[in-house]
Amino acid sequence: MHYLTIFGNPVSHSVSPYMHNLAMRGLKQNGVYSRYKLENGKELREKFFNLGIDGANITIPHKEEAYAICDEIRGVAREIKTVNTIVKKGDKLIGYNTDASGFYESIKDFEVKSAVILGAGGTAKALAYYLRKKGIEITVINRSEKRLNYFVERDFKTFSWQTFEDLESFKFDLVINTTSAGLEDDSLPAPLNIMEKLLKNGKYAVDVIYNIDTPFLQLAKKFNLISKDGKEMLLYQGVIAFNHFFNDIFELNEITNEMKKAFD
Ligand SMILES: NC(=O)c1ccc[n+]([C@@H]2O[C@H](COP(=O)([O-])OP(=O)(O)OC[C@H]3O[C@@H](n4cnc5c(N)ncnc54)[C@H](OP(=O)(O)O)[C@@H]3O)[C@@H](O)[C@H]2O)c1
Repeated sequence: MHYLTIFGNPVSHSVSPYMHNLAMRGLKQNGVYSRYKLENGKELREKFFNLGIDGANITIPHKEEAYAICDEIRGVAREIKTVNTIVKKGDKLIGYNTDASGFYESIKDFEVKSAVILGAGGTAKALAYYLRKKGIEITVINRSEKRLNYFVERDFKTFSWQTFEDLESFKFDLVINTTSAGLEDDSLPAPLNIMEKLLKNGKYAVDVIYNIDTPFLQLAKKFNLISKDGKEMLLYQGVIAFNHFFNDIFELNEITNEMKKAFD
């Protein structure tokens, strides 16, 4: 029997329980995946052991705490220092981050040589690192300078809104919104003149926000870019996490076929 959960706050909106329970049922695995509202991230490790679970996903705002409480960190999570998947092996907690690989899986049919990431938070860090490793040239644009330091230190090209306005010549195949603009308001991730400049020259647009036709996606469609929201990223981060929970015994497409029913 596999006992799994998602820790977060808020967590009531999470689709992960549907995704993982459907996959377990479809792949004939005994198990249950629940949700756990965790207010204090410092209690994560203690709760994990007290609940007697085998694995968990971690969502906002505890991904950094999740990194801190693991005994071993594997893969991209080592660099970006945030964890969204924990698997218990014996008495040890192993941490992974499947957000960036999930995102990459969602754009695998796109032909992308260069990408611009709007936003400089946790998701932006994960995507910048992972996409660069996959050979994509990355530029990061953020509202404020402060959070750009992380990217400057790692030799990414960076711009604040102000410095970007002076840039004359550039071309990005893919424009990615990792800000929360459009999640609970109708704002764009950057001022309209910047957005138009970016989208006019782009081929693809992806918003990591899902299930909302955000102003970003609406504008991208006006410029005829091939666009998608963050649903596939969500699906594939779950697929890859599921395989970690089950010791990589499945093919990713077997899990995908079951898990995607959560979005029907
Ligand atoms: N689809 C999926 O599977 C998936 C997975 C992970 C995350 N997400 C989504 O990704 C989004 C970002 O998450 P995160 O953890 O990276 O957030 P975060 O660490 O809080 O970073 C937010 C970034 O967005 C910028 N920002 C926030 N509001 C803005 C606005 N109105 N206009 C312009 N810039 C704004 C911030 O700029 P400043 O530095 O100037 O404050 C910051 O750089 C969330 O909506 C989350 O739901 C989706």
